[in-house]
Amino acid sequence: MAPDAAAGLRNVSLVGQNKTAIVVGGTLGIGAGVARLLARLGCSRIIIVGRNETRGKAVLEVLKELAPKESRIVVEFIKGDLSDSKGMREVASSLQKAAGDAGIDYLIMSQNGTPAGLNTKYNADGHDTAFAVQAISRFALAYLLTTSGGLVPNAIVMSIANQGQSLDDLSVDDLSLKTRLAKGPSATGIFINQSQRDSTVLDSAFEELNLRYPQYQYFSLWPGLVKTEEFNFSITPGYIKVIMWLGLKIIGTTPDQYANFPVYILASPDAQRTLGSGKYFDRVLNPTPLGKWSRDPKNRQALWEKLKEIIGEQ
Ligand SMILES: NC(=O)c1ccc[n+]([C@@H]2O[C@H](COP(=O)([O-])OP(=O)(O)OC[C@H]3O[C@@H](n4cnc5c(N)ncnc54)[C@H](OP(=O)(O)O)[C@@H]3O)[C@@H](O)[C@H]2O)c1
Ligand SMILES: *[C@@H]1O[C@H](CO)[C@@H](O)[C@H](O)[C@H]1NC(C)=O
Ligand SMILES: *[C@@H]1O[C@H](CO)[C@@H](O)[C@H](O)[C@H]1NC(C)=O
Ligand SMILES: *[C@@H]1O[C@H](CO)[C@@H](O)[C@H](O)[C@H]1NC(C)=O
Repeated sequence: MAPDAAAGLRNVSLVGQNKTAIVVGGTLGIGAGVARLLARLGCSRIIIVGRNETRGKAVLEVLKELAPKESRIVVEFIKGDLSDSKGMREVASSLQKAAGDAGIDYLIMSQNGTPAGLNTKYNADGHDTAFAVQAISRFALAYLLTTSGGLVPNAIVMSIANQGQSLDDLSVDDLSLKTRLAKGPSATGIFINQSQRDSTVLDSAFEELNLRYPQYQYFSLWPGLVKTEEFNFSITPGYIKVIMWLGLKIIGTTPDQYANFPVYILASPDAQRTLGSGKYFDRVLNPTPLGKWSRDPKNRQALWEKLKEIIGEQ
């Protein structure tokens, strides 16, 4: 049974534990909610990453207000754009530098790259820009900070995005689905396939990270439907709008309510016992299996090499 995350955090404090947390996509939405809860619990150092400096600085002020005095919180905003490989490498290197010798305890990634459907744009590397933010940049930051020694022993890396779906005929040579787009698909069809693709790539990358670097833990969570500041139904095509609207009514949460789930994994001393060794979870921390494509080690291996090539690691 999934644990009651909010209740499980009631007596948890991070004061005195000297944790450094990085929240990528922390200027808004789910990421900002996670950063606020970490500050409330007494996390002593929180670094926010995003493009919008005005918003980033405003979040830092809120974090300082929420933090208990004894946590002596130190906050920082790092400006970066994760929409191409150059930006990803710059952010990874800024984070490595900012974390310094203390290292990174928690790397939480909630940067938003919702599929663009028929409006798909391409980045400087020639890849689907939304896909680059949603999937490639999560691999890039996890991989680069892991292999550069930026993480402390037992560090936790966490993606909050898509999980558990499969695009069964994904080809690593066409991750941006250009062939499919050229066939003139329907707006909903391509949106769903892009979403399945993002999940497939994230599942595969996170499974490989867990297998290759067992000294760390790499979690991947699907948040369900969270009513964020900028939530806009209009960006989704066709009947998906209706599903989203209904979904928000039925299972929708706010960023601050939802934050309990990821932060439970990070900070509750009971998490290991209640959740077991699983790394992939749904919106209320029920364990979820990897999607079909990602369960094949040959697929994952081929994707791993491709992703490294895309981010310039070869
Ligand atoms: N909300 C939901 O119901 C829901 C449902 C399923 C999945 N998800 C996934 O969960 C994640 C978080 O969603 P959210 O609703 O919290 O999104 P959000 O409110 O739009 O926040 C997105 C964050 O990502 C940052 N960001 C966007 N593009 C970026 C870029 N190119 N480089 C660096 N940072 C960038 C934004 O900061 P700046 O604007 O400052 O750059 C912001 O801090 C996303 O991956 C989303 O697809 C959300
Ligand atoms: C950054 O955030 C501020 C405050 O929410 C907003 O007014 C502004 O338009 C944003 N800038 C960009 C470039 O999105
Ligand atoms: C998505 O891709 C799969 C596999 O290529 C295909 O069978 C399916 O019809 C596509 N569209 C949707 C809406 O799932
Ligand atoms: C929502 O998205 C649509 C389509 O991109 C856009 O035209 C509209 O201005 C957006 N609404 C808000 C409130 O941002």
